[in-house]
Amino acid sequence: MTIKDPETIHDVEGVPVHNVHRHDVVIIGAGLAGMRAAVEASDEFDVAVISKVFPTRSHSGAAQGGIAASLANEEEDHWEWHMFDTVKGSDYLGDQDVIETLVKEAPVVVREFEHFGAPFSRTSEGRIAQRLFGGHTKDFGRGGPVLRACYGVDRTGHVLLHTLYEVCVRNQVRFYSEFHALSLIIEDGECRGVVAWDIVNGGVHVFHAKTVMFGTGGYGKVFKITSNALANTGDGLGMVLRAGLPLEDMEFVQFHPTGLYLQGILVSEAARGEGGHLINGKGERFMEKYAPDKMELAPRDLVSRSIQTEINEGRGINGEAYVYIDLRHLGKEKIMHQLPQIHELAWKFLHVDCVTDPIPIQPTGHYSMGGIPTDIDGRVLLDGKQIPVKGFYAGGECACVSVHGANRLGTNSLLEASLFGRRCGKSIIRYLRENREFSDLPADAAVEAIKMVKRLLSSDGDEKIGKIREDLQVMMTGKCGIFRNEKQLGDLKKELRKLEERYANVRLDDKSETFNTDLLEALELGNMLEFSELIVEGAYARKESRGAHSRTDFPDRDDGEWLKHTLAWKKDGKISFDYKPVTITRFQPKERKY
Ligand code: FUM
Repeated sequence: MTIKDPETIHDVEGVPVHNVHRHDVVIIGAGLAGMRAAVEASDEFDVAVISKVFPTRSHSGAAQGGIAASLANEEEDHWEWHMFDTVKGSDYLGDQDVIETLVKEAPVVVREFEHFGAPFSRTSEGRIAQRLFGGHTKDFGRGGPVLRACYGVDRTGHVLLHTLYEVCVRNQVRFYSEFHALSLIIEDGECRGVVAWDIVNGGVHVFHAKTVMFGTGGYGKVFKITSNALANTGDGLGMVLRAGLPLEDMEFVQFHPTGLYLQGILVSEAARGEGGHLINGKGERFMEKYAPDKMELAPRDLVSRSIQTEINEGRGINGEAYVYIDLRHLGKEKIMHQLPQIHELAWKFLHVDCVTDPIPIQPTGHYSMGGIPTDIDGRVLLDGKQIPVKGFYAGGECACVSVHGANRLGTNSLLEASLFGRRCGKSIIRYLRENREFSDLPADAAVEAIKMVKRLLSSDGDEKIGKIREDLQVMMTGKCGIFRNEKQLGDLKKELRKLEERYANVRLDDKSETFNTDLLEALELGNMLEFSELIVEGAYARKESRGAHSRTDFPDRDDGEWLKHTLAWKKDGKISFDYKPVTITRFQPKERKY
């Protein structure tokens, strides 16, 4: 491994700290948000990207169906319609000033991708093709669905991710692949770098930076059934909490309606956008009951609840915990042309040929609406008063800006990641033009991270990481899933405390430093336990149903009491809350019907 500007420092508590690396910008995470910020900032500054996985394996590559923008390439569309749909989709919890920026800048971001060389699917006139997606409508919801999702077959995230990687390489962005970030270095309200573990060779590395950006992605792995990759363990959120910073709206977790049965792997919403039907065990297109107007193209929270209700009430296929998505009527040509990856996944994982048979699906843990609070320029906020932490930025799924509010619309995630990654990059450039010097690294910058690694490497308890993780996933799915209630959440709060106690008593069998996946999984589990409590406590505290947060004991939305964002901190194991108002500009909250 070639190291830029290496400086061997010292052994701390027996763990070698090999190097201090210096970069103007250090970005953690090589998904769409991280790499889009890197593309922007590397025009002017020295940028490094640290990633647990090889960059093009980042989870943005798993997003299939599209990226939203009111290009109006196929039919009439307007940013105001996109804004209305996003606000309504968010169940009025999204901040409308930020949503307005999202939808107005969307066409710019998509056209930039085109200029970077992204291979979008095309209309017969050669324009970027657009397809239908849930919750995207014409004329402020008064018309039918609108063709707004720009796509590259059913591999949109994949093609955008590869495109950005190519631009990063051209811009000489420095990649540190297979490094696991351990902790933030924050001193006097200023972020000065991060500490990371070299997964391949072992050892702690210090990344001294003028600015740090997190694009660390989501945390679907806290759920048993999830569309998320193994790497999606919310490490950035754990680091932020340990640094004493808050997380926002963590109770809002999206379950995608269609994951392959028992696998969770995504069956893109594009399958419904292209005309797929949802069918229950009685052979009914059951969405008629729940969203007679929008049917399968209602937003995700509603479709997931509908599927889960069918299953819970015994109308799954053969009474089992799944229903079908039926694509057969689309015909082989359309399936192979528009949805080839869906065809391949259904075949490889379930041995179902969706040309001739319907695909068994169930809702799957998919996306986190909450995360690290930021302002519109990606600056991480210290509290509800919009005060930023100097030099620290976040974008994409790990961040909460908040454009998705209580429920995200499909295709707004690739958009948000790219658009706010880009905004982070621009904002970093403005900051660095004014702040040209490195601030000093604190002498104890790496000590906490080293203690954490050392404790795990010398651990000798009775508990196994895999078992605790399994228990966490089962409990979170069962008691903090699509439907929640006070009893289940109350029990879960206690159970999570017990899991933390068990975590303190683990034993790692592999004590080596090189490619120690035992250690990596232990670090990841530590992060998952840190923030899972905030999801549960936030859900317990919020006594209403809004978007993806569905309380069976409080089935209605309560704007009087709960039209506000949750901020939560965890200090010395204690959780505290604050709340901040939602920004409402154009659209007053009203009843949400589809
Ligand atoms: O269904 C999908 O293709 C996923 C897209 C998204 O989460 O935005």
